[in-house]
Amino acid sequence: MTTEQVKQSKQIKTQAFTDQKPGTSGLRKKVTQFQQTGYLENFVQAVFNTIAPCTGKKLVLGGDGRFYNREAIQVIICMAVANGFTHILVGQGGILSTPAASCVIRKNQACGGIILSASHNPGGPDEDFGIKFNGENGGPAPEKLTEAIFQQTLSMEQYLSIDATDIELDQLGTVQIAQCKIDIIDPVNDYADLMESMFDFTAMKRLLTQGDFRLCFDAMHAVNGPYAKEILEKRLGAPAGSVINGVPLTDFGGGHPDPNLVHAHELVALLYGDDPFDFGAASDGDGDRNMVLGKQFYINPCDSLAILTANANLIPAYAEGIAGVARSMPTSRAVDRVAKAMNIPCYETPTGWKFFGNLLDAGKITLCGEESFGTGSDHIREKDGLWAVLFWLNLIAVKKQPVSEIVKNHWLQYGRDYFTRHDYEAVDSDNAHEMIRQFKAKIADLPSQVFAGVKITSADDFQYIDPVDKSKTTEQGVRLYLENGGRIVFRLSGTGTQGATLRVYLDCYQQDPALLAQETQQALSKLIQVAETVAGIKQFTGREKPDVIT
Ligand code: G1P
Ligand code: ZN
Repeated sequence: MTTEQVKQSKQIKTQAFTDQKPGTSGLRKKVTQFQQTGYLENFVQAVFNTIAPCTGKKLVLGGDGRFYNREAIQVIICMAVANGFTHILVGQGGILSTPAASCVIRKNQACGGIILSASHNPGGPDEDFGIKFNGENGGPAPEKLTEAIFQQTLSMEQYLSIDATDIELDQLGTVQIAQCKIDIIDPVNDYADLMESMFDFTAMKRLLTQGDFRLCFDAMHAVNGPYAKEILEKRLGAPAGSVINGVPLTDFGGGHPDPNLVHAHELVALLYGDDPFDFGAASDGDGDRNMVLGKQFYINPCDSLAILTANANLIPAYAEGIAGVARSMPTSRAVDRVAKAMNIPCYETPTGWKFFGNLLDAGKITLCGEESFGTGSDHIREKDGLWAVLFWLNLIAVKKQPVSEIVKNHWLQYGRDYFTRHDYEAVDSDNAHEMIRQFKAKIADLPSQVFAGVKITSADDFQYIDPVDKSKTTEQGVRLYLENGGRIVFRLSGTGTQGATLRVYLDCYQQDPALLAQETQQALSKLIQVAETVAGIKQFTGREKPDVIT
């Protein structure tokens, strides 16, 4: 495109969309909603107004490749030019994984980036789309900013755009539109270089090429395919074909790009089959979540965070030591035990990656994670699926032990925190809120009451005061602590697109070496009973059992 093809910058009337309140990770709605006239534009202009002035600034742009990704990118480019940006970095083909976008923002000192993704939600014309803004630190906008963006969406009357023919997104190179330079960049290189600078690629290459170690990475037809192929197959020498479902598709091949035992079934079959692989991993739609498996062995994400923390000194990037760790409140307390032994601080934050940002920026923590398959570190400001996989491979390469042995030894040393999450999806929103309201009203009376034979020792409504900016966050879940070392958390999801999702998190500590190998639901059966009786889940949701158990 040439400047001549660009017509006048124009102001277009828009309307307020009252449903554009960003959740924990941006705005997620059905594609059909985003296709309404002015819907995407309204949100994007609200972002630009909030970070104004945009004149002279640099913006990163990319997404997970799902349906509507390319169309949205063209719209956003025209708006960014009209709003005065002078430099836009766009991932080739419109692709940037969430961690790669964070990396590119930081490396290029952009003022921020727009990432198009609905994470692990399905994609396609009738499925979900999403958008979020990450700031100059590469991380999700903090609550103050998302609130300001939302307020803008309500009061804005016009958006700015230009008339321009579509940009060629598949060709690397630079185009100039009016004052703005648009670089179509390789979406993988910067990220792959960062990974290579952090891990012991020599030892990992040896592991993958010189013995009989077999690995499979399931990209689930989502964004991480090209990243995994470049790093695992090309740079680390894993045999071609080690990455399966490696081509990003707009509908993720009809699958649900969520890396768990149910949705990553192809991978699970390889790790639990007759001739099981040694190591398996998967990541989600936008590449920030991870699931890691050993031979017939599942690693709970809460344990993963604890084990990575305990062994961080074996990784080149963390060899000098780590400053501290953080976990989201519902995540099990396994990492707390490691932090205590290492004498480093451990922070408990509300759910959502954005709460780690201030702690990372202030140098208070190095590693952090959530039970929902999110793990990361201060190398970027997002959780990072492939990073977690490489961390594990690096550990296996230097410890020369299989996954199961590393985990079991960890439990022997620190004890085991059994953990499960029960989700009741798409329940009636009023009923779910009423359940939480009634439950909160009675928490003061719960301590010392006995349910299903277990005494409650304390209960509270979790609140968080950010140690850095002192901002306060409430409505983040209700916690119950039990006499047997157990904990139950009730919380409503902030990312669902239909009704309400009730999440019940259950964890219990076990130190007895003879009781470290129980089946998780079995080990937590008492707590499961307590959860039901104390909150009246059946009564309020009308459900006999959870829809999803992880
Ligand atoms: C879920 C997870 C949460 C994660 C978020 C974004 O949010 O539980 O840990 O940060 O997705 O990936 P929720 O639906 O529970 O609000
Ligand atoms: Zn994600």
